[in-house]
Amino acid sequence: MTPVPLLPEIVVSDIVTDWLASSKYSNSLALADLEQTVLRGELDDSFLQSDAWMGFAERVHELWRRYDHVVLRGVPEVGDGASLLLVSLALSHRFKPYRKDKVVKHFRMSPWTTDLSHTLKEGHFHTDINTAPLPPVVTAIQCKVPDPGSPSQGELRVARLYELLAELRRRNASATLAFLQETDVSMVNETSPGGWMGCCIAEGRIRFHPETLRAGHRRFGKNPIDLEAHLQLIHDAALSVSTPIHLGAGEVLLVSNTRALHYRGACTVVFQSFPRAFTSREVYVLHMLDEPS
Ligand SMILES: [Fe+2]
Repeated sequence: MTPVPLLPEIVVSDIVTDWLASSKYSNSLALADLEQTVLRGELDDSFLQSDAWMGFAERVHELWRRYDHVVLRGVPEVGDGASLLLVSLALSHRFKPYRKDKVVKHFRMSPWTTDLSHTLKEGHFHTDINTAPLPPVVTAIQCKVPDPGSPSQGELRVARLYELLAELRRRNASATLAFLQETDVSMVNETSPGGWMGCCIAEGRIRFHPETLRAGHRRFGKNPIDLEAHLQLIHDAALSVSTPIHLGAGEVLLVSNTRALHYRGACTVVFQSFPRAFTSREVYVLHMLDEPS
């Protein structure tokens, strides 16, 4: 009988690591080629048929089903995010493209921006691309450079939906549960200025981002007047059902974008030369359109 894993964490085997770091995929020119090949569904690599890969993918699936997120240790950080794309193939071969044929995004935290994706400020528990008609089902994050203040800064967290709802029930937060499960709200961001309207939780899936709810309220004025109280309760409950996740260089978090919220703590910078030269957290991010059933 397979022992029940205590943490959704896998240390990638040497044979998988060697493949991820192989010269075929380890430079940035190869990344563009890899992205296009994968998007066309034409990636043909015999390693993906090997016992080593199949065994690895099976373990990822097992933890995915059990925890809705998986942390992968021992992944080499190579190819400007190529190793993130390759290791994500354990979950799905369908990736969400952007700018037509790109898959992997690179974010570097900066003291000179208020953009949510790379500000130093503490983030929110949220799902990604939450105003899209059909948000991606998996978010994959790879650490390129850990926060210079790690582990106290730049931590990740995952709050699973059913644990969040159970915690809200435990706190008798019935109005907030109704807000999430029964109230039509509007969410607005720059990629969807016309907004998305509907219930945050529908058919067991959540779409949620506090800033888009606030923007929706500013735009249409129809979100509940006690929105901030709900957001605070959701944040507090999500915090209490999650634990810090620290990623070293190369390490990956795969997290459900429909059955979990994810969060990034405040970040720091260390200046080599003010104002432009600094070290800060850097990550690669990609999104996937399906997951193991
Ligand atoms: Fe996110």
